[in-house]
Amino acid sequence: MGTAKLTLDGQVLELPTVVGTEDEVGIDISKLRKETGAITLDYGYGNTGSCESAITFIDGEKGILRYRGYAIEELAEQATFAEVCYLLIHGELPERSQLDAFVQKLTYHSMIHEDMKKLFEGFPPTAHPMAVLSSMIVSLATYYPHANENVDLNIMRLLAKAPTLAAISYKKSIGQPVVYPRNDLSYTANFLHMMFAVPAEEYTVSPVLDRALNLLLVLHADHEQNCSTSTVRMVGSSDANLYASIAGGVCALWGPLHGGANQRVMEMLARIYEDGNDYRKYVDKAKDRNDPFRLMGFGHRVYKNFDPRAKILKRVADEVLDELGIDNPLLDIAKNLERVALEDEYFIERKLYPNVDFYSGIIYSAMGIPTRFFTVLFALGRLPGWIAQWKEGRDSPKTRINRPRQIYTGPKLRPYVPLDRRG
Ligand code: SDX
Repeated sequence: MGTAKLTLDGQVLELPTVVGTEDEVGIDISKLRKETGAITLDYGYGNTGSCESAITFIDGEKGILRYRGYAIEELAEQATFAEVCYLLIHGELPERSQLDAFVQKLTYHSMIHEDMKKLFEGFPPTAHPMAVLSSMIVSLATYYPHANENVDLNIMRLLAKAPTLAAISYKKSIGQPVVYPRNDLSYTANFLHMMFAVPAEEYTVSPVLDRALNLLLVLHADHEQNCSTSTVRMVGSSDANLYASIAGGVCALWGPLHGGANQRVMEMLARIYEDGNDYRKYVDKAKDRNDPFRLMGFGHRVYKNFDPRAKILKRVADEVLDELGIDNPLLDIAKNLERVALEDEYFIERKLYPNVDFYSGIIYSAMGIPTRFFTVLFALGRLPGWIAQWKEGRDSPKTRINRPRQIYTGPKLRPYVPLDRRG
């Protein structure tokens, strides 16, 4: 344990430091306001740690991402999503018997209460699926009102039912009958079956798509204290139940600067395609301070090197399209955008690289997922990470209700003026 010295108006304050497993150093300012009356101010929390966590490690400068110490590259290639869910939530890779029991619970709890289907009737077919997903997840709290009394059971309920809720939302949006989950299919195959099976014909899940979906979910499973995960921990810090906390995370992820970027990337690529493939024009627009246009899927608060997930997704996008015999011109546009941007001083100077959202939409599209559902797929992947982080926050003796301070910049004290004297 080291110390940091802070001098404020001649007062010298010694603050303890906390050093993490990978030698990251944090200055503990818990006593700052009490000793000096001052607070810190850090817009966007770019320099502020909200907690200590043992779940995910990111080294943004080196492009490293590990879940519970395992490299994302190894997990993406070798682990099933169910294994990664178990790893993130329980901290260790499951043994065969533990994994079988975990998967059995995911299968057993995949149905939703029949009455929940009535809730879907209230949404217009044009409802954005992220609004539907967050509403339906928080509605689970009405069917399981004692969620905080049996956390482990409700964690399995949520993990198991989320794909079912997402698939029903999709079927409702296209006017097709709901397809129920099946007990003979894996987590990922079940989701694809619920999304794309129709009563009129036999639907066989493509092993290519099943493998691609497993990889996409693994890559999205956790990412330490990002905007939506911090939201989940924030809501959970008030002792709100699991469903309420996760629904908050879904809403935060929806934002186009966060998980909503994957939908915006595909809309951007389609716009460039319709504009004659003039990708250089859009790189120039992204650099123009007077132009609100941003290269969606590029840049990251933490990664100042390649997002390791983007590297994997770029390769998998090629493989999936080749295996399916799909020629998607948007993939070529994405690759050209990346190539031109990475040679351009503006992007090099700001260390802007493709992030997880840049190539994922190409693969979702090849799977038949409509663009407006891309962020729902991101949410399904991030669910175990949100859950693991929520649980870690709940279980930590160091957790207090999150209540940041502020610097007030409003009017000083002034007397009330009655309405008839306000002019
Ligand atoms: C995700 O945090 C996570 O871990 C998130 C995530 C996860 O797994 O949970 O990784 C998932 O959200 C990935 C990010 C998806 N969002 C996008 O792709 C949207 C496009 N990207 C940007 O909006 C931006 O890069 C952010 C939001 C991702 C990061 O924003 P920051 O850290 O606040 O950076 P910034 O806006 O301060 O940008 C720094 C500079 C600025 O230029 P200057 O003012 O210094 O001249 O870089 C520029 C920005 O204008 N810049 C971009 C850009 N991103 C940043 N310029 C053009 N195009 C971009 N995409």
